[in-house]
Amino acid sequence: MPTFQTSPGMRDILPPESGRWRAFQLVFAELVESAGYGQLITPLIEDVGVFTRIGEATDVVTKELYAFEDRGGRHVSLRPEMTASVCRAFAQHRPIAPWKVWYAGPNFRQEKAQRGRYRQFDQVGIEALGVDDAHLDVEVIALGWEFYQRIGLRQVRLIVNSLGEPDDRARYVEALGAHFEVAGDALSEQSRETLQKNPLRVLDSKRERDRAVIDAAPQIADFYSAEAADHFDTVLDGLRSLDIPFDVEPKLVRGLDYYRRTIFEFQGGTLESAQNALGGGGRYDGLVEALGGPATAGIGFALGLDRTLLACDDEGVFAATTRELDAFVVDVTGGAAAVAITAELRAAGLAADRSFDQRSMKAQMKLANRSGAAHAIILGDDELAAGTLTVKPMHGNGEQVTIPRTDLIDHLQRNEP
Ligand code: HAM
Repeated sequence: MPTFQTSPGMRDILPPESGRWRAFQLVFAELVESAGYGQLITPLIEDVGVFTRIGEATDVVTKELYAFEDRGGRHVSLRPEMTASVCRAFAQHRPIAPWKVWYAGPNFRQEKAQRGRYRQFDQVGIEALGVDDAHLDVEVIALGWEFYQRIGLRQVRLIVNSLGEPDDRARYVEALGAHFEVAGDALSEQSRETLQKNPLRVLDSKRERDRAVIDAAPQIADFYSAEAADHFDTVLDGLRSLDIPFDVEPKLVRGLDYYRRTIFEFQGGTLESAQNALGGGGRYDGLVEALGGPATAGIGFALGLDRTLLACDDEGVFAATTRELDAFVVDVTGGAAAVAITAELRAAGLAADRSFDQRSMKAQMKLANRSGAAHAIILGDDELAAGTLTVKPMHGNGEQVTIPRTDLIDHLQRNEP
């Protein structure tokens, strides 16, 4: 057992898996940049107040923050998500609205670690600030949907709901609270505890004991104002017009407290239900203001990279790939010549590696084999004296040839696999 290992819920991502992470972010960047979103990079650490605005009643804030006092006595926290940071940045820089940004990076929540639930996890996401138009909700949801299509997932389910305007939501929360209070002991103890903090979150309970009371609970749709109902209808019509399949799920509430009106989640078809949310988002029209900025509409989503890749494994799509080496240089004349040869290959845009430590021909050929390179470039004493190199194709049954050293790049470019 080594002295140190990664902390619970934290993971090393080794190659080639790490290449898959980069590819994931690249596919995402390509998609959202073509829709007018620019990348925003924010710090991993913010004033803890930025995150407590997410909602004092959420587990993310009350139980899971990596908050601490820095050496200057500032109360700071590792970010548990990025929407709050984006809103803080908007309030700080006051960019011209609409402001459409995307982000990618790690987040930290002290959760109970298990498959698909980590303490450090990556997200990619977008946020669009300063537009109060239901057509933007459609654009945002459609981009999330399209991303899953591009990486090849076919079992993703989109569920949507509206929490109504803040007033509608407040009246609903009141009615819901009353309903659950009356139910009393029919609810599980955990749900009765949740009820004291946030009645909405009781709807999230997956406990069998709560099922009947939740099924009989008031429905949010009965509390929509005309504007909220209209906004939601426009969103649903837009999704239909784009042929995006979805289900309206009146009990979808989401884990963070800043949402108003449209909320949505992308669920994977293969993961356990507690971890099947691959991504989610919604409108959070009051958040910029809560962070000291002007009243600003906002909507966005974040997609969990770790979980989405688990879903990819389950569906057998978006596999890890590594760049194939074009050449592996085997130099048995001391290794100095290989310095120049690999440099020359790489300068010509070819992927090349070599062996070090002056190993035997046999050992170097073994490495060449293991590297997966298309060609071994062999330099022995004879080749060195004659100014030649031997090129051995490593896959298929191509012939080994000895060529003038000056022809190497040409030869490889002509014989690309
Ligand atoms: P969230 O639902 O808390 O929303 O997280 C979004 C996604 O991040 C989840 O669906 C999940 O895939 C992933 N995720 C969250 N926690 C973990 C964890 N402990 N381990 C692995 N993956 C995790 C937000 O973060 C909002 N900021 C989304 C948003 C953007 N809303 C509006 N704009």
